[in-house]
Amino acid sequence: MKIPLIKPFLPDSVKERVLSVLESGFLTEGRVTAEFEAACSDFLEVAHCLAMSSCTVGLEVILRYLGICPGDEVIVPEYTYPATADVVAIAGAKIIIVDVNPETMLIDYDALEKAITPRTKAVIPVSLFGNPLDYERLTAIKKSSGIQVIEDAACAFGALYREKKVGGLCDFSVFSLHPRKFITTGEGGLVTTSSKTGSEWMRSYKHFGMDPSVSRKNTVFRMIGTNYKMSDVLAAIGLGQMEYVETLLDRRRELAGYYLELLAGAGQVALPFTTMGGRHSYQTFCVFVENRDQVLKTMRSHGIEVQIGTYCLHQQPAFQPGDQCEIRGSLSGSVYAGDHCLALPMYHELTRKDQETVIERLVAS
Ligand SMILES: Cc1ncc(COP(=O)(O)O)c(C=O)c1O
Repeated sequence: MKIPLIKPFLPDSVKERVLSVLESGFLTEGRVTAEFEAACSDFLEVAHCLAMSSCTVGLEVILRYLGICPGDEVIVPEYTYPATADVVAIAGAKIIIVDVNPETMLIDYDALEKAITPRTKAVIPVSLFGNPLDYERLTAIKKSSGIQVIEDAACAFGALYREKKVGGLCDFSVFSLHPRKFITTGEGGLVTTSSKTGSEWMRSYKHFGMDPSVSRKNTVFRMIGTNYKMSDVLAAIGLGQMEYVETLLDRRRELAGYYLELLAGAGQVALPFTTMGGRHSYQTFCVFVENRDQVLKTMRSHGIEVQIGTYCLHQQPAFQPGDQCEIRGSLSGSVYAGDHCLALPMYHELTRKDQETVIERLVAS
């Protein structure tokens, strides 16, 4: 593709850090992962930050910590990457699907409230594409219903709500470090929480159930656990990128600003809304267009790698209604997003000329 959708930011300083880990001979989770966690918790302004092998397992670990199990219901938005819902079934609970708002593509808070039953234990709202949620509304729902709010912030690293960073706005949040994300470790995830007990439990669980307070010579397995650790090799990539995090974020917002400028006169292209009081991180820059599939095909044929936004769960065989999954309410907002949303190229080295080409082609398609 002449203009790819994404390009990871990998300057020499990042490569040098990886090389240094390889030369050290210590490749599993260790000092570098701890440094990466510290850099992320400083940036996100959170009390506890745990590196995991993916965002998906991070979500699963939180559900396990909260004791979510068969007989429980967990509500998820319909328009999301399947991982948000997969983890509910993996924990043995029932996936309850509700609609999204067609303007923000975020969970429809009214639909969420209506879907709560005595069996509902949690909701996993998604700060999709880097658009922060309405945390005030979510806090009110949590207070009135008693359900847990676990934020799938896979794409929202660096997003803000009323000047506070996403990651510290819900009891638990999870970020993805997959290469489409602007801070990446290849594969990886970050769990953030203000709960000391939760963080200690999760740290132990992801490390075979080891007691983290006990020295290596005197290993104690205090509970059943698993292995969701992050290797120092991967953490070195993320740590190297964290040196540039502010620059990378500023650049995304600058690129988004120029896309918005270029789109100002393009009547056939609509734009999603950012949550009131929120500051988008523009992990993904999306527009709404008619005949999306045709536009996508035409733009790709001209070497511009555009992509659909994400998935309507109910259109996937894995999420058909049954014992594991139920749809509550209409899904018209999600179907609108599913039919119209188009993600445009977005990466640090994208030039103004590239952006002009993208928008010219978009308007002509
Ligand atoms: C909303 C959402 N949740 C979860 C995931 C899964 O993240 P990971 O690949 O790190 O497990 C993704 C992946 O992009 C995502 O977009």
